[in-house]
Amino acid sequence: DQQTILVAGGAGYIGSHVVADLVENKYNVVVYDSLYKGHKQSIVGLKNVAFVKGDVRDGDLLDKTFKRFEPVAVMHFCADSLVGESVIDPLKYYDNNVGGAISLLQAMGRNGVDYIVFSSTAAIFGDPEVDIISEDTPKAPKNPYGETKLAIERMLHWASESPSSTLKYVALRYFNAAGAHPTRDIGEDHSPETHLIPNVMKAIQGSGGRLKVFGNDYQTPDGTCVRDYIHVMDLSQAHVKALAWMIHNDLSGQFNLGNGNGFSVMDVIGSAKTVTQREVPYDLAPRRAGDPPTLVANSVKAKSVLGWRPEHDSMDDIIASAWRWHQAHPAGYKD
Ligand code: NAD
Ligand code: UFG
Repeated sequence: DQQTILVAGGAGYIGSHVVADLVENKYNVVVYDSLYKGHKQSIVGLKNVAFVKGDVRDGDLLDKTFKRFEPVAVMHFCADSLVGESVIDPLKYYDNNVGGAISLLQAMGRNGVDYIVFSSTAAIFGDPEVDIISEDTPKAPKNPYGETKLAIERMLHWASESPSSTLKYVALRYFNAAGAHPTRDIGEDHSPETHLIPNVMKAIQGSGGRLKVFGNDYQTPDGTCVRDYIHVMDLSQAHVKALAWMIHNDLSGQFNLGNGNGFSVMDVIGSAKTVTQREVPYDLAPRRAGDPPTLVANSVKAKSVLGWRPEHDSMDDIIASAWRWHQAHPAGYKD
């Protein structure tokens, strides 16, 4: 019998890639998404995928959905995730991120669903003193977005520790998700787009104006910020493995997910030039508030415990897949 997974936020960028992988791995999927940021097109045409349009803060609709589809587990991708916006409107972030997670956990409790995979973030670490971040690096978020994700991790911990609880959870702390699906016609389309790689693609295509490079006076080899870009297909594989690990062993855990290599903004621009054979029009701009100089993951735990290994750890590989999607869809899902 195929197991059913409820994927909240499954019509978003990362969620839609994971949905495709779950189907490949013989799960049935119910995507539950308000479409407030996601795209219905990203999940059409897949067998064994049902769709429910709704908000995770709507407990009644969640109850109906749990009763109708009887999922064994939940994956929770829903969030507001713009760091700058979170500083300006923190309550929006507490409402959607923390409020959404509370609502979902309560609905799971009412419906006897014990397993959840949660999308956490490197932003819970803030601006750490170490360059390579492991699971026990101190958590010190620097903005409300990271703070809400950490609050949810702590909530999951205490909810799973309660004597009457049978809840198990996996928190996956993504570093910088990037790239697109190699065979399905899905990719990254956020509005507004704040992420580096799609903005590089848009600058090349002339659709987003010139790229702004936010600061070149950081304490890094070339002065621009260093990040750990992880291919969305590698992230997706980690979800499938984490889900199976959690259910099979009836255990909870937290894992950092990156490819372990740092790339500066200038490295990304250089790779984009090589791969696309086009110029990247850019200007130097002031630092963006709240950007730490370097964030690179130590993913040893995910490798040893989950048996996961990132397969696309070259920047050229990541850029090539993003470029394919952006060429086919210069205006994103509107095209
Ligand atoms: P996304 O905006 O593309 O996807 C989020 C999806 O959730 C959207 O389809 C949106 O419509 C839906 N959603 C949001 N609030 C909802 C609500 N209240 N009810 C129902 N649906 C709702 O974002 P993404 O880039 O795919 O990120 C997915 C998750 O991963 C987020 O939780 C984000 O914080 C986390 N994350 C992303 C990155 C990254 O590099 N993109 C890095 C670290 C963590
Ligand atoms: N950058 C530019 N120009 C742009 C966009 C970004 O120079 O147009 C720079 C940023 O200043 C930063 C780097 O490129 O130095 C990466 O920026 P992104 O916005 O692509 O990614 P972030 O590292 O800021 O954040 C992402 C996710 C967060 C997550 C974090 C964890 O958006 O959700 O990774 O590392 F928390």
